[in-house]
Amino acid sequence: MTIPARAAITAVHGYVPPDVLTNAELAVMVDTSDAWITERTGIRERHILKGEGLGTSHMAAEAVRGLLQKTGTAPGEIDLLICATTTPDMQFPSTANLICDMVGIRDIGSFDVQAACSGFLYSLTIASQFIANGTARKVIVVGADKMSSIIDYTDRATCVLFGDGAGAVLLEPSADGTGIMDSLIRSDGAGWIHLHQKAGGSRMPASAKSVDQRLHYVHQEGAAVYKHAIARMAEVAGQIMTRNNLRGNMIDWLVPHQANKRIIESTAERMGLPMERVMVTINKYGNTTNATIPLCLWDYEAKLKPGNKLLLAAFGGGFTWAGVYVQWAYDGAKAVKFNGNGKAS
Ligand code: UT7
Repeated sequence: MTIPARAAITAVHGYVPPDVLTNAELAVMVDTSDAWITERTGIRERHILKGEGLGTSHMAAEAVRGLLQKTGTAPGEIDLLICATTTPDMQFPSTANLICDMVGIRDIGSFDVQAACSGFLYSLTIASQFIANGTARKVIVVGADKMSSIIDYTDRATCVLFGDGAGAVLLEPSADGTGIMDSLIRSDGAGWIHLHQKAGGSRMPASAKSVDQRLHYVHQEGAAVYKHAIARMAEVAGQIMTRNNLRGNMIDWLVPHQANKRIIESTAERMGLPMERVMVTINKYGNTTNATIPLCLWDYEAKLKPGNKLLLAAFGGGFTWAGVYVQWAYDGAKAVKFNGNGKAS
């Protein structure tokens, strides 16, 4: 009997666009304040992709190019590319197809995964199956969103929350047993009512009326989503911990979806983890939907050591939620030292 291979994350790279939108700037656009946004969400600024004709694929391709460069991988070596996104460039083809074309990857399987803010963890879970059954050896998973393309900048309840960005990881068969140890993906479609984009799909195609009524933007009932997010993030983290005999003091890093600092703190508290062991980037990137978790890994890469136990957890529209337990495969400090992390200094 062949033993299934375990998928290890062997590299990470990210991209955020250069333009920054601060809380102070938002306070000029809508009735809000730096104090409200910081206290209620933890966000201080977010990056926004500007430029005619640039979509989610532009940021994702930047992250993927950096990943290939950093690891000395030729585009022809990649067996599969999955893009987790809620803001695809177009309804079709998939953004994954476009990214492959932009970075010179040809003749492989590539597709998008739509699971809102949990999409990156759904995609990691799917990708790891291809490695486990031996049909792929090098897989790229990229989480990317241009949230600014579906945000109503006259709606203070949503426009302060979101930002744009992309993060990509390379998955390969584990050499030493580290890698993705376990994962759980969950959904409850009844939650759609609290978080969705009404128009632009097949149920309500774009029309002059749908544009007039501003139905192409994110609709979020914040308080309802908050309640579910708090419960489900902790629940899925707890389930993964129980299944793997993990206690809070055994986990080196919680890598939570970055939607609200208070949700992150509550999840950490329920897991028995101090905030020093929680990755937090929401202050500078806001909620980048599918990019939050890979951007956290990119930001904290230099601190990650082989064998570190990471618990990744997300919650989002759908509702969807997911947890992934990873044993880290490489010395992040060395990767950053030899290859740089690609961040502008
Ligand atoms: O990533 C996908 C999943 N999404 C999430 O997990 C988001 C979950 N939800 C949240 O993070 C929070 O609910 C929000 C940050 C969106 C909102 O915070 P909240 O503490 O739940 O506020 P609220 O919606 O209950 O509103 C409280 C008050 C309201 O005023 P009144 O009715 O009490 O007078 C809002 O109108 O805060 C007001 N408000 C604002 N005030 C200043 C809402 N947005 C703003 C704002 N600036 N930007």
